[in-house]
Amino acid sequence: MTATHSLQLAPPAAQSPAGPGRGSYWITTFGCQMNKADSERMAGILETLGYREASAELSADLVLYNTCTIRDNAEQKVYSYLGRQAQRKRLNPHLTLVVAGCVAQQEGEALLRRVPELDLVMGPQHANRLDTLLAQVEQGQQVVATGEHHILEDITTARRDSAVCAWVNVIYGCNERCTYCVVPSVRGQEQSRRPEAIRLEMEGLAARGFREITLLGQNIDAYGRDLPGITPEGRRQHTLTDLLHHVHDVEGLERIRFATSHPRYFTERLIDACAALPKVCEHFHIPFQSGDDAVLKAMARGYTVERYRRILSRIRERMPDAAISADVIVAFPGESEAQFRRTLALIEEIGFDQVNTAAYSPRPNTPAADWPDQLSETVKVERLQELNALVERTARRRSARYQGRLVQVLVEGPNPRQASQWMGRTRTNRLTFFSADQPAGAGPGSGAPAVQAGDLVNVRIEEVRAFSLSGTLA
Ligand code: SAH
Ligand code: SF4
Ligand code: F3S
Repeated sequence: MTATHSLQLAPPAAQSPAGPGRGSYWITTFGCQMNKADSERMAGILETLGYREASAELSADLVLYNTCTIRDNAEQKVYSYLGRQAQRKRLNPHLTLVVAGCVAQQEGEALLRRVPELDLVMGPQHANRLDTLLAQVEQGQQVVATGEHHILEDITTARRDSAVCAWVNVIYGCNERCTYCVVPSVRGQEQSRRPEAIRLEMEGLAARGFREITLLGQNIDAYGRDLPGITPEGRRQHTLTDLLHHVHDVEGLERIRFATSHPRYFTERLIDACAALPKVCEHFHIPFQSGDDAVLKAMARGYTVERYRRILSRIRERMPDAAISADVIVAFPGESEAQFRRTLALIEEIGFDQVNTAAYSPRPNTPAADWPDQLSETVKVERLQELNALVERTARRRSARYQGRLVQVLVEGPNPRQASQWMGRTRTNRLTFFSADQPAGAGPGSGAPAVQAGDLVNVRIEEVRAFSLSGTLA
């Protein structure tokens, strides 16, 4: 199954000593939460191999870029980073250079031709095999690992960036065929993890002190489609709803989130489960992409604006305070001014807490990239600016409801920009800063801290901004 192959194109990478003390590593992660989760697992593998985290990118012995290709600007970013490292490598042949993630999968061997200094090019399905692939590099090979691969369970080694909130993958890949999107071609077929394995990982995280877990999938509503089993009532045995029921009582966990939801598959059963299970937070990330039915059809999204409205009204019926976020694309090929206005109108009507916006970017091996009715850069920029201004106004309006309110915050740590404050999130995922009698920066000897990372506290909100809140510990 694994189509890893090696090419003998360049002088072998210098041997590094085996076992502990191999040198330092640096990982830069681009793109989505899936990539962040993969990077945490790869960092864990490197530390198990004896690498330690470098203090700076330009002094590291191993540099790994975990890349994203969702839009052209995301892809181009990595080439400028690579240019700098290739230059370093010409002076220091001991440097190991790795490109992982979605650009690696998309470009494969072509990346080696473009940057001959690379040691390893590895697609996202190979993240858990980093140790094996590096062993091949150490034997002097240039390695390309981009074959379709069954993702092996590997949960023990992740080095998590937070001590409070963690990601847990539940389904890899995507079987949808949205006409603009490169993800299915770089992330491969859907592969759901077994519910028992997911629960085990969550229990391990809770035992290590994690309080919040976000379950991840590019299309998380597809969870379980590829697992066998039918219930006596004749429905699929493994769905996201069943998974939430299966994991929600993991002891020590306070909050569970999940992303990303697809409106085509979002069910009433799921909404009811979210309302019924107290740890599942009332925040939903449901991209709608366009407010116009004809554009949605051209995108092959498989739902109408009316269906999207019905999902949201059901959510708000059951969870009136729920926060809703989404993704949207403007200037999709052929999008008329009137169709764009329908997207704006939908944002106005729904009142989103947050919307990730993007102008359409043609991607390799996607149908829409070849359509003749591409829009100009000028139209893209104009529409994006107008959209962003509206998104900010809407978010500000949604934030206003918190003014003066007492909200529950899960403390993540000190505010990195102002050490006297603490930082955390509400159940609805609003970033919240607050001060307490005991400042966040206070060191040992200043008495028992009133607050620490991982605590659930109540904060009185005194100031609201579009995307964050500030207040005082109640
Ligand atoms: N699986 C998720 C989103 C994955 S990609 C979903 O189905 O909604 C994240 C976001 O990037 C998408 O929601 C979309 O808004 C944006 N995106 C994807 N391809 C794009 C493209 N070619 N140009 C511009 N934005 C794109
Ligand atoms: Fe891309 Fe569509 Fe899959 Fe989302 S559901 S990752 S937009 S193909
Ligand atoms: Fe980017 Fe790959 Fe995620 S293309 S958005 S890193 S799945």
